[in-house]
Amino acid sequence: MNILVTGGTGYIGSHTAVELINKGHHPILIDNLSNSHEEVVKYIEQITGKAVDFFNVDLCDRTAVFNLLKTLQVDAVIHFAAFKSVSESVLDPLKYYRNNIDSLINLLDALVTHKINRLVFSSSCTVYGEASLMPVRETDPFGPASSPYGATKQIGEQLIKDATAAYGLNSICLRYFNPAGAHSSALIGEYPLQSPTNLVPVITRNAIKKSNKLTVFGTDYHTPDGTCIRDYIHVVDLAKAHVCAIERMFSDKVRSMHEVFNVGTGKGHSVLDVIHAFRRSTTMELEYTIGPRRPGDIEQIWAATGLTEQELNWKAQCSLDEIVSSAWKWEQQLQQQLIKKADAS
Ligand code: WQD
Repeated sequence: MNILVTGGTGYIGSHTAVELINKGHHPILIDNLSNSHEEVVKYIEQITGKAVDFFNVDLCDRTAVFNLLKTLQVDAVIHFAAFKSVSESVLDPLKYYRNNIDSLINLLDALVTHKINRLVFSSSCTVYGEASLMPVRETDPFGPASSPYGATKQIGEQLIKDATAAYGLNSICLRYFNPAGAHSSALIGEYPLQSPTNLVPVITRNAIKKSNKLTVFGTDYHTPDGTCIRDYIHVVDLAKAHVCAIERMFSDKVRSMHEVFNVGTGKGHSVLDVIHAFRRSTTMELEYTIGPRRPGDIEQIWAATGLTEQELNWKAQCSLDEIVSSAWKWEQQLQQQLIKKADAS
């Protein structure tokens, strides 16, 4: 199948492109490179041995989106393109509402116009807000979004649900928990243009540069060790879930035209658990300091995974140690790559 992958040079998009190719599909990547690098296309080709189509298009440019879709034969779309930092969204909400909502509306408009009616949406566990009962289930109501980022995902799901009903789409929303780790080749991984704010890449950057220490944002939460708990899922496991969702939409298994699935491991780990797993798996020293709570953070969340395992026939395979080990291998390779580039220039 020809699968349009928006945000295709991004972290999850690039890993999903690899898994789509591994299952015989043809991903067509579009990205505005606002937070990713075009060279990722080359690495996807190197990993898979297949040529990959890439278009530098900003989904907020409605005309460009329509002009592009006019030229492509697309069977389904996976929509990743969005800004995704919880902390940054608290500091600059308008940037997040404009980018994440405008791009989705333009995309939906173009899909309806060009009669492309299968869409997988990159949603997030942040739609649950500060949920009280763990693990969270797909049928749990949305709580108040704890950040503008989370609000853009709540609005995104509502937009897609309404568009599905009105225009006859078939849509699946995948609610990610905390993606982390990297492809085993260490050719692709988390490589944002801006400095990362999420825990695992902050850890690996601190370890490789031994620079400004890692700050643990808050140790006074009502959790066993006082730090926040999250459901960290390996990005390759997450990528495979997207292929399962796409293939579901071409099967007779679809139960309704708008479906929602949690994509997590079902296990919660605290910030200190992740730090200890990193030290254990890499034997690297990792110093950290304790800081105040970070605005927008929720205390704890992890996934109920039964519906996804049953309906998508998918289950996360990688452990926390495998996640942090692959992230560390990627960070070491990335630094080597950057040193080579600096020497060459
Ligand atoms: C995790 C924990 C921080 C950095 C993520 C994704 C987001 C979305 C939801 C998919 C928190 C603590 C972090 C640091 C720290 N995923 N932390 N020191 O906020 O859960 O959001 O999941 O849609 O895209 O980013 O992830 O990694 O930023 O934070 O103590 O330097 O680590 O306070 O408790 P978050 P995170």
